[in-house]
Amino acid sequence: MYTQNIHQHLIKKLKGLSFTSSDEDTAFLIRFSANLYIIHALFGQIYGHRPDADHWYEKILDTILAAYKNRPTNLKSLDLTKERKGHWYLASDIVGMSLYVDRFCGTLKDLGSKLEYFDELGVNFLHLMPIMKSPTNESDGGYAVSDFRSVDPRFGTIKDLQKLDDIMKEKGMYLMLDIVLNHTSSQHIWAKNASAGDKTYQDYFYMYDDRMMPDRYEQTMPDIFPDSSPGSFTYDEQSSKWVMTVFNHYQWDLNYTNPAVFNEMLDTIFFYANLGVDILRIDAPAFIWKSLGTTSQNLPEAHTLLQLIKQCVQVATPGMALLGEAIVAPKEIMKYFGIGQFKGRECDVAYNATQMALQWDALATGDTRVMLAAQHDILQKPYGATWITYTRCHDDIGLGYEDAMIQGAGYIPFEHRKFIKNYYSGNYRGSTAKGALFGVNPKNSDARISGSLASLCGLEYGIDHKLKEIIAQSVQKTLLMQAHSLLLGGIPMMYYGDEIAYTNDYSYLQDLGKNYDNRWMHRPIINWQKNELRKKKNTVEHTVFTGIQKLIKIRKSYLTFGDYNNIEWMSPHNIHIAGYIRFDKNNRIYCLYNFSDKDEHLTWYALREKGCVQGQFMIDLWSEIEVIVGRDDEYLVLSPYQFMILK
Ligand code: GLC
Repeated sequence: MYTQNIHQHLIKKLKGLSFTSSDEDTAFLIRFSANLYIIHALFGQIYGHRPDADHWYEKILDTILAAYKNRPTNLKSLDLTKERKGHWYLASDIVGMSLYVDRFCGTLKDLGSKLEYFDELGVNFLHLMPIMKSPTNESDGGYAVSDFRSVDPRFGTIKDLQKLDDIMKEKGMYLMLDIVLNHTSSQHIWAKNASAGDKTYQDYFYMYDDRMMPDRYEQTMPDIFPDSSPGSFTYDEQSSKWVMTVFNHYQWDLNYTNPAVFNEMLDTIFFYANLGVDILRIDAPAFIWKSLGTTSQNLPEAHTLLQLIKQCVQVATPGMALLGEAIVAPKEIMKYFGIGQFKGRECDVAYNATQMALQWDALATGDTRVMLAAQHDILQKPYGATWITYTRCHDDIGLGYEDAMIQGAGYIPFEHRKFIKNYYSGNYRGSTAKGALFGVNPKNSDARISGSLASLCGLEYGIDHKLKEIIAQSVQKTLLMQAHSLLLGGIPMMYYGDEIAYTNDYSYLQDLGKNYDNRWMHRPIINWQKNELRKKKNTVEHTVFTGIQKLIKIRKSYLTFGDYNNIEWMSPHNIHIAGYIRFDKNNRIYCLYNFSDKDEHLTWYALREKGCVQGQFMIDLWSEIEVIVGRDDEYLVLSPYQFMILK
């Protein structure tokens, strides 16, 4: 929308700055003038009431301009290439892996020498877990950042990162880094200044002289780490103030009612964009706005801020997509893609955390109905946005899906969740899963689940008890879980170590900086001799690695597996078998997964009702065996945990 004063103001701002008639500059100016009205409006919604609003609006425009001016030429032209492709991140040829650089191989330089490993597996997109400076013993795996712009010396330097990214870009790989938007480490210079009494920096955080406000906030704010860091405030001795610390006591929540904080963080976002980040993982965006009397999660203002960030990024560094790391129920997560006039204009990517958790639910119960019940909501994702699909990551598995989904399948939510938690934490007779409960809240018996993919699938149990069948079954379960999330639609994100079936690593218990947080049990230190076993036939490592390699190949061979809202779930003719169809104008691929430990029969009618005809030949892309669609009174039989990818 053209608005005289807003646009005239921009013209004045651009005067004296040199732009050429290049495609890049022209596109930038068009983007700027197209988004200006909305940037002004969104900014006004949050900060417009302040007497200094104009001053900060001006600053934000300067930040955008500086970001574009500082953007390296190669990234500017990559922006245009990506724009021409349109929603480049939906394609089936992107497969990611999330890893801790130090635990995976050492430093960023070392990672450069591991790129062939990713090629071998088929991974072309790396999520490097936080690598910016963070105090050793109070780091939350790097999510307590003490300097947003320096790489922690443990990993190397910014130069090393840039070099790595250059090589990755040459190879056509993509990079994802985190921006920890919600908080800083208590050792960040802003926090240190605030602690020392500097008023300007105290305004960067939520700091109070007494317990009055903290008590009021805590009445409605849930505990995030109830066992290791209960409450949402921490007393800071030096300033004699209570500081809001929603996560760990050493993570100070930033105060976004202060536009100076917004501007600093926007500038940091651009700093990452100009390092060459392709997808920016916005850590914990649900928490960035606080309000008394609410949970201070998922508030409308948090969305307004994300929309504002998105519009600014779209102007200056449009090749960088935004991933909102909100681990919330499907109805809530949809809002992170934007609603109303912002539908598809907030975050480009979000974790399909509900689906991930429901796969674990189905694996424990052997019943796919709860998973199916969630699909109506999950399918509301707008076109152009996508998921991160995954089976495991560095965090715990939360069971936050809605009660109604559980009830719909005939279970009692409280009992059902209790079963799942017991099943995976080794407290259910007959379960081979070895995990642990994380974040246990004695007030409401809420808990999440820690444990590596392989251990949760029973491999550790099988090895400990020398049970060959359990080991073989755990491998089959592992591949079933991976296949399900690799082919579902979205960017599949492998979690390092899972491709080699690493079981839980208990060494964290000896480390003072980690032993209070059992998520470290599933953050392995890679032993490259063990990884060599991927080349040795008849080892678990070989079977899992080559299995995933093959699944990735299948995914990349068909555009059908890209995420163009081209998925249809099959009717539950057998509640133990989940089935979805991926389709495009050339193909219909039927993906079937038996989540139970028994042979299961599926009527051929299930395929016929979805477009197959009797007598039709289909090939299972996984086993490479041909099947012929039978009569309605005949059955397709899937062995325990078998999956088929029928084309
Ligand atoms: C995100 C991260 C998690 C971290 C938290 C606080 O949820 O994934 O590991 O503890 O944010 O930064």
